[in-house]
Amino acid sequence: MPDTITITDDRTGKTVTVPITDGVFPASAVRELDPSLYIYDPAYMQTAACKSAITYLDGDAGILRYRGYPIEQLAEKSTYLEVAYLLLNGELPTPAQLDTWTDDVVHHTFIHENMRKRFVDGFHYDAHPMGMFVSSLAALGTFYNDAKNIHSKDSRDKQILRLVAKTPTLAAMAYRFSVGLPFVYPNNDLSFPANFLNMMWKVGEYEVDPRLERAMEVLFILHADHEQNCGTTAMRVVGSSQADPYTSAAAAASALYGPLHGGANEAVVRMLADIASIENVPAFLAEVKSGKGSRLMGFGHRVYKNFDPRATIIKKTAYDVFEVTGHNPLLDIALALEDAALTDPYFIDRKLYPNVDFYSGLIYQALGFPVAMFTVLFAIPRTVGWLAHWQELLEDKDQKISRPRQWYAGAEARDYTPLSAR
Ligand code: CMC
Repeated sequence: MPDTITITDDRTGKTVTVPITDGVFPASAVRELDPSLYIYDPAYMQTAACKSAITYLDGDAGILRYRGYPIEQLAEKSTYLEVAYLLLNGELPTPAQLDTWTDDVVHHTFIHENMRKRFVDGFHYDAHPMGMFVSSLAALGTFYNDAKNIHSKDSRDKQILRLVAKTPTLAAMAYRFSVGLPFVYPNNDLSFPANFLNMMWKVGEYEVDPRLERAMEVLFILHADHEQNCGTTAMRVVGSSQADPYTSAAAAASALYGPLHGGANEAVVRMLADIASIENVPAFLAEVKSGKGSRLMGFGHRVYKNFDPRATIIKKTAYDVFEVTGHNPLLDIALALEDAALTDPYFIDRKLYPNVDFYSGLIYQALGFPVAMFTVLFAIPRTVGWLAHWQELLEDKDQKISRPRQWYAGAEARDYTPLSAR
């Protein structure tokens, strides 16, 4: 006997019974009761907007898996390109498949000269790299008119490859422009993260330290997907109108830009710098708790109510990086903040724990990235997550153009008053 739920409309006495599968029941039950009845669910707190086979997340148990594989195993043993293949194709690649995929990616890293010489050079000298990245994604799509052909799997695969391969180039280009340095061309002989680091900082015979290359790889793996977060939802909503993937990814990146989403790692480092010393931690937390100051950035999550498994891995990666780069003084403030918050009833009662952004910013800073680049660093690997969801959406027969309803709370019908009578 399957689990079911029965809903009764007390106005009419009509009853509808539907199955509950994996804790989800279809909203069609409400439609069946009364097609003019809607569920009020701001921020989609209780709404499953799609069926997805990509990422599994259990917020209470602190579990994150890509296509069934635990994030801890992938972060320890895999590479970003292998994880990207897994997210897009559902299975880990064979050695031959990985070779082909890697070869394809490294041979699509170049961008059209007009992107660099005309488009990016047109930005104001102090443009934010994430603003440049968002608009560059949309602009990139104008170079590939075949991207509009979203019903062809061949065309979709080609755009996915281009986007995965070119996002590090766009990101490094935005950074170099923002600090007035010349563009560095991709080097196809390097690994995906080493190529990115090389495009950021090539000076003479710059060589990437393998420990830092691995840290970048781990950060890319951890950020590659996180089911229906704000950015991915933006990708799905825009993608559902059958917009091309570049435009949809630009929408997703715009969502990621916000300080409550991908912008949080930038906010964490600014917050730690403002706190300035361990002695100021209690006063800062008191202000957070009073609701008068800012939130404790890098803490709390809509889904994780126990711990964020990515934060545990990132904390370890931070120590690996500091071994190479030296100690980051902001780490002491972060550790003091974490200790104080984790024993404070305000944070305990609200189930607020460090999230992925609490330590990632410190690593980025130790690696030499300016704070303004942090969200761009999140966007590079998240692009593959967005694309996996976009692909899944287009193949899902249950999906249509996204179009939620509203609870109208405005004025009743009234007659226009001429200007002279107001
Ligand atoms: N500092 C202080 N109080 C907080 C925090 C925080 N970081 N996060 C939540 N709260 C409080 C909030 O004030 C509320 O208290 P009360 O019940 O007294 O009104 C309660 O906890 C519930 O908060 P909420 O805003 O209803 O929770 P949410 O699930 O809507 O928000 C969140 C999730 C991540 C937006 C929020 O925790 C937050 O703003 N965190 C800081 C920003 C941050 O670190 N964002 C990165 C998220 S992880 C990466 C990503 O997804 O991009």
